[in-house]
Amino acid sequence: MDLAALEEEARSLLPGPTYDYLAGGAGDELTLADNVAAWDRIRLRPRVLRDVGTVDTSTTVMGSSVSSPVLVAPTAFHKLAHPEGELETARGAAAAGALMVAATRSTTPLEDISATAEAPRWYQVYVLQERDHTAALVERAAKAGFTALVLTGDTPILGQRLRDVRNAFVLPANVGESAMQAGAAVGSLVDQDATITFEQIGWLREMSGLPVLVKGVLRADDARACLDAGAAGVCVSNHGGRQLDGAVAAADALAEVVDEVGDDGEVYVDGGIRRGVDVVRALALGARGVMIGRPVIWGLATGGSEGVRRVLRGFQRELGLAMALCGARTVDEITRDLVA
Ligand code: FNR
Repeated sequence: MDLAALEEEARSLLPGPTYDYLAGGAGDELTLADNVAAWDRIRLRPRVLRDVGTVDTSTTVMGSSVSSPVLVAPTAFHKLAHPEGELETARGAAAAGALMVAATRSTTPLEDISATAEAPRWYQVYVLQERDHTAALVERAAKAGFTALVLTGDTPILGQRLRDVRNAFVLPANVGESAMQAGAAVGSLVDQDATITFEQIGWLREMSGLPVLVKGVLRADDARACLDAGAAGVCVSNHGGRQLDGAVAAADALAEVVDEVGDDGEVYVDGGIRRGVDVVRALALGARGVMIGRPVIWGLATGGSEGVRRVLRGFQRELGLAMALCGARTVDEITRDLVA
């Protein structure tokens, strides 16, 4: 898997401002860079002579069986990367047996994404200023077969992404229209509600009957507050460096959150995961699974569903290899002692 080459290929195919929107981060992109560097800083203590003739990457996430702990992160507006948008992503994820988290800001109706994703799928929620609109989307998601909600907590307002400012980036008309039609409405009335608090966790849970994970948590006290408010778990994330520049790297925040959550919920992590060995690092630190953002988009932009499948299969293959070399036959054997 050569993700740098894949990104370069995507860059050559996409309009410059679109590539910048997808690749970029907030401010000086310090957190964007640190997300990758922080995984690289973690050294492993592999075990020897453990009979790794058979390695099994399968696991369960929120009770659903998946072929590996590598999930597709929710990312907005897939029609920026491919004319068939989220449908292609869902096809690729299904072909790899991977769970996809569909974004509120999708350019495909959530029912169509759900019907295409064969593996279990989750729905990412932005609570919008128009609460009724969010309620309607969430009810549709529950009806369409999504099995968990992922409430994004780190985006009360959008971070300042300087590449987009410099490019005066706006969604191409066809992409904006697709988002409108999908009900992911983009416009002033449906901006995120900056006033939401932990209270909305219970609201979403009761309305949908689905477990709620809170994404964007970087602190133990916030993780505890989410659980106390009824969350089933959290995703340690800084939104791929797109929100608060200067925020701690996801890899560096993970252990603190895992130690607080313990057995009271599941912990996921995303941001800067680029190799199978990063998945081992994350699981060793206590994550139940990881989410992949940009590499999936580069797969989508360069090869549609087949490109998405190849990226996800690449992570799965590298994970199996890293597990074998760590002396871990199953994901349960990826434990904290593997980290130096
Ligand atoms: C995102 N991300 C994101 N997260 C979310 O909760 N809702 C969203 O709509 C989006 N949209 C979005 C668009 C684009 C173009 C990117 C790159 C990211 C964040 C995403 O879920 C995830 O946290 C990061 O992408 C993970 O980091 P990596 O894997 O991209 O480094």
